[in-house]
Amino acid sequence: MTRPIRCLITAGPTREFFDPVRFISNPSTGKMGYALAQAALDAAWTVDLISGPVALPPPQGVNLYPITTGAELHETCHDLFPSCDILIMCAAVCDMRPAQSHPHKVKKETFEWNVRFEPVPDILKSLSNVRKPGQVLVGFAAETRDIAEYARRKLEEKNLDWIVANDVSRSDAGFASDTNTVTLYARTGETYALQPGTKLEVASSLLALFAPTLSRTQSNT
Ligand code: C5P
Repeated sequence: MTRPIRCLITAGPTREFFDPVRFISNPSTGKMGYALAQAALDAAWTVDLISGPVALPPPQGVNLYPITTGAELHETCHDLFPSCDILIMCAAVCDMRPAQSHPHKVKKETFEWNVRFEPVPDILKSLSNVRKPGQVLVGFAAETRDIAEYARRKLEEKNLDWIVANDVSRSDAGFASDTNTVTLYARTGETYALQPGTKLEVASSLLALFAPTLSRTQSNT
């Protein structure tokens, strides 16, 4: 008997704090990641969902791992990644963090207005460096222009099998929208312009395209 496919999905934003009450983040609502988790459950996959702070109820049946910062996402991803067949990195990781974070609320009078930032290390890249043969890695690329070019570059640089690109400058796609329009790029060179739809419909179409590569992997183990 084959075991169910085990899927690790990350969703929502991360936050990077200046002090305990102030942070930098992005407008991600987690809707696409949660739709992927629901679609994976519908396909009878086992789902580990690592979620940044969002206002959505987790799909019933997922193993939920709440995180807040990029560092927490990094650690939880590395804990869970070894046992997954497919990683779908849908989280909108906040790319930068204040170089200095204060343990107590900083008073306005003493606030350092020229805040220095440092990069948040690329989690997906660090995971692709430790992948085992057969593990499938999927990234997301939120772009406002030159979408195909940036998406292909990320596919290569992060050593992914697939990248899902969405145009976040549209009001009916990307952050906060209930619908999405995405293009999927494969490591093997194919491009799939998916039918626009609800995020759940788009998620199901994506999983249907990933599934054949996973089935092959499973029968090899
Ligand atoms: O390079 P960019 O941030 O646009 O790449 C997007 C992809 O990389 C997404 O899948 C996102 O979850 C992931 N990412 C990451 N660690 C970061 C930044 C992005 O894993 N520090």
